[in-house]
Amino acid sequence: MDITNRTVFIAGGTSGIGLELARRFAAAGSTVIVGGRRTDLLDRISAEGFGTVPVDVTDQASVDRARDTVLLSHPDLDTVVTMSGVMILEDLRDPGHFSAAEQTIDVNLLGTVRVIDAFTPHLIARGAGTVVTVSSGIGFLPFPVMPTYAASKAAVHAYSEALRAQLDGTGVEVAELVPPAVATTPEQAQRNPNALALDDFATEVMDLLRAEPTPHQILVKAVLMHRWAERDGTYDELVAQRSQALAMLPSRQ
Ligand SMILES: NC(=O)c1ccc[n+]([C@@H]2O[C@H](COP(=O)([O-])OP(=O)(O)OC[C@H]3O[C@@H](n4cnc5c(N)ncnc54)[C@H](OP(=O)(O)O)[C@@H]3O)[C@@H](O)[C@H]2O)c1
Repeated sequence: MDITNRTVFIAGGTSGIGLELARRFAAAGSTVIVGGRRTDLLDRISAEGFGTVPVDVTDQASVDRARDTVLLSHPDLDTVVTMSGVMILEDLRDPGHFSAAEQTIDVNLLGTVRVIDAFTPHLIARGAGTVVTVSSGIGFLPFPVMPTYAASKAAVHAYSEALRAQLDGTGVEVAELVPPAVATTPEQAQRNPNALALDDFATEVMDLLRAEPTPHQILVKAVLMHRWAERDGTYDELVAQRSQALAMLPSRQ
């Protein structure tokens, strides 16, 4: 895709990967509107020169209001990124995990669906545009301390595939961004030394997005081992390795 002249809405762009990609799209020449719940961050992001809009993706009315606001000021919107996500540890031996499971599905999966539902009629009417969904390497290779997170991201992958097939012929393309572990804060970099630096990740993502035609999946090098573990026969060994993290759960101590 041509990243130099897009008009992009990023739902879930107030921090982390979403904010960095907002800056990269803007640096390449595109116009970016950032959405999220934290109004203090939206104010700061607005002061950087971005359009901003408050949105809670768990609330359809909020998503519809954000859509109306964005399209009023940016009727030429052509790209929607469904970045909003939460990552919650869950101990499945504790029935209390259920509220985390509900929240995870509501934000990561249903939030993605709500945002796509709100914006696809506009993109279809334009006859051109891009939806960028956000799954995770964990959707392809579970990290057992985050079971519902893994399930939600596997679901986003499946949904993206079906959405692409249903939009075929409309001019609207679907690209699924599949991040590996990315350190979005210094604390995260310290906790997980294997996580990719945000800067390096964003550079690789923008390079991949630039390709024509837009790839169906945006796979940086560090996520290939997760994405293709089943095909490569490394799946069982890697899941076993990743299961060592279960020792951090309260019921295992
Ligand atoms: N970092 C990683 O290692 C990694 C790896 C794979 C996939 N991912 C995915 O990449 C995406 C961004 O993650 P990140 O690491 O950059 O985390 P982050 O800094 O916590 O960003 C999450 C974003 O989601 C937004 N959000 C959360 N709940 C929301 C809600 N109810 N309504 C609207 N927005 C909401 C947050 O905005 P507000 O709080 O302002 O609403 C924030 O902008 C997520 O989908 C995540 O699952 C991340």
